[in-house]
Parts: sequence; C-alpha cells; structure tokens
Amino acid sequence: MKPTVAPFPAARLRRTRQSPAIRGLVRQNTLAKEDLIWPVFVRAGEGIEEPVPSMPGVMRRSVDKVVVAAREAVDLGIPAICVFPYTGLDERTEDCAGAWDPDNHANRAIRAIKAAVPELAVMTDVALDTYNINGHDGFVVDGEIVNDATVEALVKMTLAQAEAGADIIGPSDMMDGRIEAMRTALEAAGHQNVMILSYAAKYASAFYGPFRDAVGASAALTGDKNTYQMDPANSDEALRLVERDLREGADMVMVKPGLPSLDICRRVKDTFGAPTFAYQVSGEYAMIQAAAQQGWIDGERVMLESLMAFKRAGCDGILTYFAPQVARLLAR
Ligand code: PBG
Repeated sequence: MKPTVAPFPAARLRRTRQSPAIRGLVRQNTLAKEDLIWPVFVRAGEGIEEPVPSMPGVMRRSVDKVVVAAREAVDLGIPAICVFPYTGLDERTEDCAGAWDPDNHANRAIRAIKAAVPELAVMTDVALDTYNINGHDGFVVDGEIVNDATVEALVKMTLAQAEAGADIIGPSDMMDGRIEAMRTALEAAGHQNVMILSYAAKYASAFYGPFRDAVGASAALTGDKNTYQMDPANSDEALRLVERDLREGADMVMVKPGLPSLDICRRVKDTFGAPTFAYQVSGEYAMIQAAAQQGWIDGERVMLESLMAFKRAGCDGILTYFAPQVARLLAR
C-alpha cells in the first residue's frame, strides 16, 4: 500500500507535532519497563561487585549480590533478569562439565533469585562458551565445532537450569536441532511450563567483544564463530532460522545484535507475529556509554532513542544492560 497524503496546505504534517499533548496523542510506540530483560553476570565468591572495564556501569556479582540486583529489578518493575556466568580460565575444561553442574554459579544464582523474588522471571544462557577451555559455544573436535554432541550437552545444561527453577531457557549457541531436543527433554522431565527464548537469528558480530570480557571468554577464545553464527551479509537466512526454531518449539525468538539488525526484527515480526526480542548487546552498550562519558552524546537520550527504535521495528521486548537506568527514568 502506497501512503497517500493530501496536498499542502490540507496536509501540514507538522500540525500533529505542535505540542507535547498532540505528539503524545499520535505517538505510535511506547517503551515500558515491562519490555525489559536485564542481563547480569554472576561469578564465584561472596560480597563481590566487580566492574567490567569494557562495560562502564556493569558489574560481575557474586550470587548474594545478584539476589540484591534481582530485588532491585522487582522494585523497579523489570519483569525478567537473564543470568550469565563469569568463569576464569581455571574453571574451564575441554569437556565443559561445569555447564550442567547443578551447583555452578549460574544455577546457584537461579535458585537464590527464585527463592528471594519468585515473581521475577529468570532467563538463562545455554551455550558452552562460558565453560569451554577454548571459548566456543560447542565442543571442538579436530578444529571443528561439532553440532550433535554439543546439542546433547546443551540438553543436559537446559535440564539443570530448569531444575534450578529457570522460567525461560535462552539457547545462544546456534547449533542446529537444539530447540527440538531441548523441548522434548523439558516435556519428558515435567517442565511443560518452562519457556524457550531462542537466539534464533544471531549474527557473528564484533559487537559481542565486551561481553566476552565480562564472561571471561576473550582470553580463552581461539578463532572465530563464523561456522555457527550467521554472516551479517544475510537476511533471508534469518527468517529460515526463526521459522525452524518456532517449528521446533521456541516460545519466543530473538534477533542479535540489536541496532545493526533492526531490518531483521521488522521482517521477523511481520512474517511470524511471534513474541520477538532484540538483544542490545555489549558493544552497543559500550559505544553509548563511552561516547556519553566523553560528553560527545547525551547518553540518556541516546539510550531511550535506541530502545524506542526496537519497539518501532516490531520488537515486543529488549534485553539491555540499561534496564535499571531505563526503568528508573520511566518511573519518574
Ligand atoms: C555466547 C553469548 C554471547 C552473547 C550472549 N551469549 C557472545 C558470543 O556469542 O560470543 C553476547 C551478548 C553481548 O554481547 O552482550 N553464547
């Protein structure tokens, strides 16, 4: 449909921009605290809040401090938190056994959060990169990131997280067939209500750099993730991935990184109409914070504008490290 606009002066499009009241009246999209998922990093120890240098304002927290953050999230009206583990090189192994250990920091954090603030939805990360000696999301055999053996490990990881009380499983690994395997295992284990938010269209992106610092994967990572994450030059492939993941049982889908992929968010929403999320990733966060610290941009306004762009692109919600700041601003 081609938009038709009456000729000037019958149509003066500036008329509906003339005051805050009228702008509010015609505003198409709103950003709400209910749209936010707050990613947090959990590490070993107690009483620890350690800044992540490449993500100003973001902390790695020990389990007790993650619980404090979770209470803060609830007080601010943020509906969900996403737990990522930080692991040092000494905690990483080739067999990635830490990933499905019921007592790893991530699973302890999930249990502690659900005990303290059961109303807060807890999302997880399913991928081997935070436990793997080489920083990859799957097992590496003779230089190849192997798919099917990795999926078996991801299923074990998923079940451990569901047992710990997770509400939303977040596979960020990009292996083929993992959604169906995870869904089947969850059903068989009695976790019918545990949801899967699939990182369906995840690009091999340089915007993940600061996250890899935050989880301790930068030092570990050998090579790149181009054989499993998507080529940023492709868009039709994103739709095939989303279709596949929805068919395999994903309840919600994600596009990542965020601002570089707004075109994909729109296509995914228009094509499938499924709950669609974007991840405003670490590099996007770091760029805004760095420029704001220099006084080159108004950090607060850029933050709000970038998040509104996701809503305009059709996203239902956003994973963002800005979640507490935004929620505080929106409460004013
Ligand atoms: C890894 C994972 C990554 C992110 C979330 N899960 C990084 C990667 O794929 O290397 C990135 C998040 C961010 O940059 O904020 N499974």
